[in-house]
Amino acid sequence: MPVPILKQSGVLIATIQAALTDHDLVQLKDDLAEKVGRFRAHGVVIDVTALDVMDSFATRTLRMIAETTRLRGAVTVIVGIQPDVAMAMVQLGLLLDGISTALDLEEGLELDLATEIGFSGSELTIVATAISEVARNIITYAVRGEIILSTLHQGGRRAIVVIARDSGPGIPDIEQAMRDGFSTGKSLGLGLPGSKRLMDEFEIVSEPGKGTIVTMKKWARSR
Ligand SMILES: Nc1ncnc2c1ncn2[C@@H]1O[C@H](COP(=O)(O)OP(=O)(O)O)[C@@H](O)[C@H]1O
Ligand SMILES: [Mg+2]
Repeated sequence: MPVPILKQSGVLIATIQAALTDHDLVQLKDDLAEKVGRFRAHGVVIDVTALDVMDSFATRTLRMIAETTRLRGAVTVIVGIQPDVAMAMVQLGLLLDGISTALDLEEGLELDLATEIGFSGSELTIVATAISEVARNIITYAVRGEIILSTLHQGGRRAIVVIARDSGPGIPDIEQAMRDGFSTGKSLGLGLPGSKRLMDEFEIVSEPGKGTIVTMKKWARSR
């Protein structure tokens, strides 16, 4: 089943409705490449909310889409990654490469990302750890939510942007939640303060009854 692609003021939005065959994925890649050129799109949004599993072929195809799109001067954003999918990907080493997508293990996570975004292996581990922490919080406290990944170019530098968003119970006292060792879940209480230390920028917005949004950025060291 082909993936419908919507055009909205210069942005192409592809919403994946159900599990895709490898053939569907390749067709999505070709469709997007053609449409980005034809409509001179400046952005591509791929919504993967409906996907319960992201295997290495899917992640690699998404990465190829992001690369093709970038060559044409547009940005790719992947939205709706389920927190448990994000955690599984991190554990498999299929870390999203910042633009949008994950890397295949055999392609060499560190090498590829280092050249693409400018992250060292240890910086990658740091980003993966922070993604894992916020994904775990969504699963534990909010049950459902999503992780959004994209990259940012500013003044010749690149950053990975991670947004973790849920409509769970929210956090009544953020200052308290950000304290080392504070936990309502009988765990270490280091996820939020630890992620803040690991990343370069960290922002948390939460409203009881409405949900929580954590936004984190990690800049590649300029060299
Ligand atoms: N997405 C979330 N929704 C609701 N509460 C959250 C969320 N993330 C964190 N919290 C609250 O903040 C506290 C601190 O989180 P964290 O630093 O990750 O430590 P831990 O998960 O070990 O308790 C949690 O115990 C929980 O009360
Ligand atoms: Mg936690």
